[in-house]
Amino acid sequence: MKLILLGTLLFSLISCSGGRNSTGYSLINDMMYSITGEAFSENQLFEDGQTMQPPVAGTVPRGKMPHPMGEDGQPLVLDNPYEMNDYKWKRAELLFNRTCASCHGVDGQAGGKVVTEGGFPAPPKFKSRSFKYSKKDKKPAGHIFNVITFGIGNMPTHAQQLYAEDRWYVSEYVRERLMVRGKK
Ligand code: HEC
Repeated sequence: MKLILLGTLLFSLISCSGGRNSTGYSLINDMMYSITGEAFSENQLFEDGQTMQPPVAGTVPRGKMPHPMGEDGQPLVLDNPYEMNDYKWKRAELLFNRTCASCHGVDGQAGGKVVTEGGFPAPPKFKSRSFKYSKKDKKPAGHIFNVITFGIGNMPTHAQQLYAEDRWYVSEYVRERLMVRGKK
């Protein structure tokens, strides 16, 4: 009996040694040390030999609605499903100045530094005739939404920079505040 007591005492003393942050002695190591694959490392477990795998074909990430496509494989031009209000106009202006003005300029006239100093091909000026719009508009907010989402010509997609909802606000902002309104 004394031996058992002494043994327990000794064991508890040992198991606490090493300070607060020590995990102590490990007796069964099975799951203690796992091998972690770094995102960009090689990996023999997968056929393509890399750790980071693309999402399974045909799957959709949670909370993301795929954009409906037309029969020609081009994205359909949709209507803005969101109502605008003061807050959203302000937010759209802020986001435009942050994500788009570097090329398009704060006033949409292609005066951004990426263009004037960086030498990036200049985008068209939003106040030009080709963007003049009326009620029977060939370039509604949905068109701008698709431009931001999928990119166009030299402009890459900006879907990673803005949530879909914000892309709608920015589209409305570009159309209503930066382009010219024609005869209705
Ligand atoms: C890296 C520079 C760059 C940034 C940033 C950029 N654009 Fe563009 N954008 C361009 C260029 C260049 C074009 C002309 C594309 C072409 O026709 O080759 C263009 C074209 C456009 C057009 C005209 C499309 C048409 O109908 O011809 C719209 C609208 C537009 N951009 C909106 C935006 C909005 C909104 C943002 C911010 C979310 C943005 N752009 C960010 C470079 C940029």
